[in-house]
Amino acid sequence: MRRSVLIFIIINVLVIAFLTNRVWILITLLFADGMSDAISRGELPAADAESSDTRPQLIPKIIHQTYINESVPPVWQEAQRSCIELHKGDYEYKFWTDAKSREFIAAEYPWFLDTFDGYPYPIQRADAIRYFALATYGGIYIDLDNGCNRRLDPLLSYPAWVRRTIPTGISNDAMGSVPQHPFFLRVIRSLEKYNRSWILPYITIMGSTGPLFLSVIWRRYSREGLNQGDGRVRILFPDEYQDKPWGFFLHNLGNSWHGKDVKLIFWMARHWIALTITGFLTAGVAFFVLYWVYYRFLVAGSSKGGSIRLRFPFWRRTSTKDYELLDRDDRHEV
Ligand SMILES: *[C@@H]1O[C@H](CO)[C@@H](O)[C@H](O)[C@H]1NC(C)=O
Repeated sequence: MRRSVLIFIIINVLVIAFLTNRVWILITLLFADGMSDAISRGELPAADAESSDTRPQLIPKIIHQTYINESVPPVWQEAQRSCIELHKGDYEYKFWTDAKSREFIAAEYPWFLDTFDGYPYPIQRADAIRYFALATYGGIYIDLDNGCNRRLDPLLSYPAWVRRTIPTGISNDAMGSVPQHPFFLRVIRSLEKYNRSWILPYITIMGSTGPLFLSVIWRRYSREGLNQGDGRVRILFPDEYQDKPWGFFLHNLGNSWHGKDVKLIFWMARHWIALTITGFLTAGVAFFVLYWVYYRFLVAGSSKGGSIRLRFPFWRRTSTKDYELLDRDDRHEV
């Protein structure tokens, strides 16, 4: 094989390997069901029988919630009240307003303050503060639109847990952990690195601080063998989560911070065949453009004064003379 073609193919293989490597965690995410870490119904006491649970409680009795300021909109007040009422007396309630969150980061995590202040979307700060709150104090974080259906005591018996989302990944809308749990320490230490813009606000938020970010860290953490012993992160499945009499949470559909991007994502999901074909066509065009650039500047560029004709690697068996000429040029060039 001619050396120029070989180099071209090697470069392409490297590019493809690089791209595959970058999205590999996302691909594994599609197959990670978290079943082996599931919190099964058998180990949980029935609703209203929480006091029969004799397992040690590891997670401190703290409930964390966040909002811009103290004036919670009426649509979420009932959900908020349901959690406070059920846990009155023995749980501490920490409410993180924007002002309190910033004060806390500035005091406890000054190395993160620039990133925190620099987030373009307020929801990113709301995402980030919940990880820092859990890593610092431990407790259970609950989104303001998720009401409580029963007491959360049984969920205190795991060093850390998150909620599984269907079809893939985990969510950050309800999570629990002991203080300084290695998973949440890993999460807060990863935020800076994942603070990137993906052009679309929805994807930027998901990938930098939201559920996609959390899912990617969860996969990496598991693949490194850290998801075991005290470092294990248990998974709450939808069946134990909501819509069942024994589920822990009530979901209030008042939350709709994502707009056009979500519509775009759903549109893409509906037209995935056309989009896939377009993707392959684009890749094909890119391949030939790359080859043309490569040929034009690296191979043909050195044939002094000679006419430059575009040649593709697969149909160049025109004459042996061409081979010799190109072979010689290659040696000069490389
Ligand atoms: C709280 O934030 C909302 C939304 O930005 C705003 O409309 C409201 O005036 C704020 N309330 C107070 C007390 O600052």
